[in-house]
Order: sequence, then structure tokens, then C-alpha cells
Amino acid sequence: MKTTTEVCLVELFRRGTAGFLYVEDQLIDSVTTLRKFWRDVSQPGFKLLFSVKANPNSSVLLALQPHVDGFDVSSRHEAALLRRLGISPTSITWSGPAKTDRALAEIYQHGADCIHLDSFDEWQACQRFEGQRTIRKSIRVGISDSPSKKLGFSADEFSRLLKSPDFKLSGEKFSGIHAYLGRDAFSTTKLAAFLEEVKTFRKADVWADDFELYLGPGLPAVLTTDASLRSGLIEPLREICSSHRMSIECGRAVSQPSGYYFTRVLAVKKTDNHVRVIIDGGLQHMAGHLRSPSYGQTGIETYFFRSAQRLEVSEQCADIQGSLSIWYDKLLENVKVPASLERGDWIVIGHCGAYGYTAACNQFIGPTPIGEWMLSSRGEMSNVFPEQLMSYHAVLDGR
Ligand SMILES: Cc1ncc(COP(=O)(O)O)c(C=O)c1O
Repeated sequence: MKTTTEVCLVELFRRGTAGFLYVEDQLIDSVTTLRKFWRDVSQPGFKLLFSVKANPNSSVLLALQPHVDGFDVSSRHEAALLRRLGISPTSITWSGPAKTDRALAEIYQHGADCIHLDSFDEWQACQRFEGQRTIRKSIRVGISDSPSKKLGFSADEFSRLLKSPDFKLSGEKFSGIHAYLGRDAFSTTKLAAFLEEVKTFRKADVWADDFELYLGPGLPAVLTTDASLRSGLIEPLREICSSHRMSIECGRAVSQPSGYYFTRVLAVKKTDNHVRVIIDGGLQHMAGHLRSPSYGQTGIETYFFRSAQRLEVSEQCADIQGSLSIWYDKLLENVKVPASLERGDWIVIGHCGAYGYTAACNQFIGPTPIGEWMLSSRGEMSNVFPEQLMSYHAVLDGR
């Protein structure tokens, strides 16, 4: 952790509120690293989008805006928030199965770069608005080994669309194919399998000349901080990607390394040689626990403080558990903790800038109120929540 970040955190402890601190320089570093990585493997002209669901904090979005080519959203809340920040709808792509009629009406009202169609039903629903303006559409392909098989078109559903009289009459050409490979599920094998599936879909005569591949690659957060992981991927990726023009949308790989979550220790419990540190928050402040299905706790850092004093860790290991009485509220396992750790000390967890509070807002048994702060590149710290979160929820009714 950089000294400036530590100084800010200590200042925040004095306020007594749990929260998140985002570091703007780290956000920019992640985007720069990702761009360079993808430039090395794919065709020139690729686009890098930020997936808003990973962190819809307005300050994070504004910090990222000059450095990304656009944003991907999955709900009208996210799109309305971007519009309110002055971000052009034509730099927004729409993914996800939650495109309600109201969402579609707003897409056609304001415009969008591309709608990634999730189903035949969605294509039909779009037809009601086609008179208003034409918006590029892509076909989201269901990844066959994905746990979320509900998402995207299977080959059967795609052929049902193509055979339908309404589609034939429309003469529509699709601008590309979209897929999300899954949380941390990116691998060259998975990408190669998807590109094979793309070949089958492309046999149909329904593609526009400026065909593009839109991909949520599911890159892990550690990719931006682990140079050897990146360099090991470059050659195999270049081999399978370099003939495609791609637009990639990333969430955690962009924002996760930039965020620090901090809260107080409520109890240190020792039972049967097992130590559990109970913290004030946990899943109440996050969209999910912090262990990646593929990378475990790699990249996640923990620090402990008593007031302004950093505590040295000992050889003693503990699980870090949130304050909900549910088994899955275990944020981290087997973390080295200070021998003297006690109620009232602070824990800081680094690599928490994605799928945190602004993304999740879990109200179960009333979480301790939280704040979010941004440490800007100019070295200034500002409170970017609760005001910003209020606006995220209120944005649709113009509050
Ligand atoms: C369609 C789509 N794109 C992008 C993302 C962002 O994923 P990640 O944070 O793994 O980069 C998600 C996450 O669920 C998604 O559903």
C-alpha cells in the first residue's frame, strides 16, 4: 500500500465509519495495462469498455471516462446514471437479460452503441420501437459450459429467430456476436471454444459488413497486477484472437485493484484451534465474498491498524467473517493476523474495488452505514458516497 493511501485510510478511521477508498491512479493504471495487453493480442481498433455493474460509483465512472472507449450496462438505472454524468448514450452497449420493455423504450429514446440481444423474445420486443430509430444489435451466444445457460442464444433459438416470418420480413443484419465468458473464467481454451462457436453462427447470412466481436472476457482482477500472468497469455491469445476486431467489456480487472475496504473488528474468536475474526460488515457491504473461483485470494491484501498505528501480523491465521449469521458470509480464509488483534481495531482489505457496496447495497438486518471516498490523482480525498449512491437509486425519478 502506498503511503498516501495509508495516510488517507488513517484519516478515515478517525471518522469511525466503515467504507471503501478508491485510488484514481490505480484505476487509470489498470486501464492502461489492460489496453496494452489487449493491443498486443488483438487487431488494432479494439475498444475497451467498463462494465458499470462492477462499480457504479459516479466518481469511479467519471475517473474512468477519459481512459475507456465506453461503458456496458445491464439496466436502465446504470444507463440513466451515465446519462446524468454527461456520458453519451452512443458510447453505451447493453448486455444482460433484464432488458424490460421500459428499458428498451429508453434505449430507443436515447440511442445506444449496440444492444446485445439475449433471446428471440427480446428481438421481438425491440420491433415495437424500430420505427423510432435503428440501433445496432448483436447476438449474445450462450456459452455451452456456462453455469448461466439461461443467457444468450443457443444454436436452436438462433435458428428459430432466423426462420421466423417477422425476422425474414425485417431484413435485419446483426452487427456482431457477444458473449460473457464468466467470472474469472477467462482462459485461452474457453475463448478458443467460443470463437469456434462463432464460426457456426457466422454461417448464416445475417451479418453486417462491419461485423464485430463483443466480449466480456471475464478477465481476473489479478491480470492487471500480475505481469507474468499477462506475458504467459500473450502468445496463445495472439494466435486465437489476432484475426478478430473486438470490443471487450471488463469490470473487476479494471476497478478491483483500485479499492480498499475498511471496517472495524467486532470480535476475535478462538475455538478448537480455529480463529475467526468477526468484522462489522462483510457481505452486507459487498455483492459477494472476495475469494475468486479460479484465483482464490491471490492479489488480496489485508492490513490491520489500531488507531493510526499499523499492527504487524503474526504467524496466527484466521478466517475473516462478516457480521451476518450465515455460513457464506466468510470474506477470506486463513489470513495472517496480528497476535494482539482485538475488538475496535481496523481491518483494511485491498483489491476490493469491484462488486462492493455501490454495486450491492444489501439491507439484510440493517448494515452499519458506510462511506465511499476517492483519492484523486492530485492527492485530494473526497467523499463520494452516500451522495453518489443516493443519486444512483434516485436517478430514475430525477431526484
Ligand atoms: C455481460 C457482462 N459483461 C461484463 C461483466 C463484467 O465481468 P467481470 O467483472 O468479470 O469483468 C459481466 C459480469 O457479470 C457481465 O455479465
